[in-house]
Amino acid sequence: MANPDILVAGVLPASTDKTLAASFTVHRVTDAAAAAALAASERDAVRGLARGMHSAVDRILMESLPRLEIVANFGVGYDGIDLAYAADHGIVVTNTPDVLTEEVADTSLGLILMTVRELSAAERYLRAGEWPRRGPYRLTATLRDRTAGIAGLGRIGIAIARRLDAMGVPVVYHGRHRQPDVPYGYYADLGEMVAAVDLLILALPGSPATANIVDAAILEALGANGILINIGRGSAVDEAALIAALKHGTILAAGLDVFAREPNVPPELIALPNAVLLPHVGSASVYTRDAMGQLVVDNLKGWFADRRPLTPVPETPWPR
Ligand code: 8YV
Repeated sequence: MANPDILVAGVLPASTDKTLAASFTVHRVTDAAAAAALAASERDAVRGLARGMHSAVDRILMESLPRLEIVANFGVGYDGIDLAYAADHGIVVTNTPDVLTEEVADTSLGLILMTVRELSAAERYLRAGEWPRRGPYRLTATLRDRTAGIAGLGRIGIAIARRLDAMGVPVVYHGRHRQPDVPYGYYADLGEMVAAVDLLILALPGSPATANIVDAAILEALGANGILINIGRGSAVDEAALIAALKHGTILAAGLDVFAREPNVPPELIALPNAVLLPHVGSASVYTRDAMGQLVVDNLKGWFADRRPLTPVPETPWPR
């Protein structure tokens, strides 16, 4: 039987491209929007879509692929895919949970330490030759006597909490539901949790429900000793309110791996000394990106072999 035709939209690891080519007839576009330029015969042949990094899979794209059966997302977060359209048209959507959890949690801890202890600023100080000129780098804030509040205690949030446990940092959490099996205090209300902590860690998915959930009032509640870390999605933070809060000392500092309009980061944020900014590198090791890519391949293979995607998202029409 001929290999099924799939469309690769956007960038995937080289190892994933190679593995896909062994089992599928692969069509490629630089991003999903470019699919419209494919010949109609090519679009008609496509039955699966491997979605590379953050390339939008909207209604227009899916309408242009009339035989589309599955969208395999490279990433645990699948905001940017029109799930309602996919569900209405029987298109299965899969993501890549678990394989990136520990990597993203490691990155989160790095970001927390960089932000609280000003490690990147201290390194810049040394490299600029300031140590012999001006003496030791200034004393910084600490994780000691700090309580962490995690918004979004999913797989990644729990992996972050475990690391904070080992460091002796008390953890509480906010989410839609209390989780029966975790040892951390629960707050149904984000504002109430934020008022009780001074390290707010966002590990939230991007969705209409989480959009701008951290606004001026939440930053005010976090307070002048408060530190914000965002490892989930930039859309969860009102960036203008955050810039104002960092500028005016409403909060102490922020460490961000994600932004509202990636890869564009507001120049006002870049100019702030109390912001640590990473270019969305949470899962970005060769090891973990290869594992994510393999799961994309395995989802596609599972679907085309016997209609069994490995990691369908909850909104997906599978199992029917
Ligand atoms: C990746 C992520 O950077 O998995 C996610 O949702 O945000 C990151 O791990 C991204 O998915 C790469 O496309």
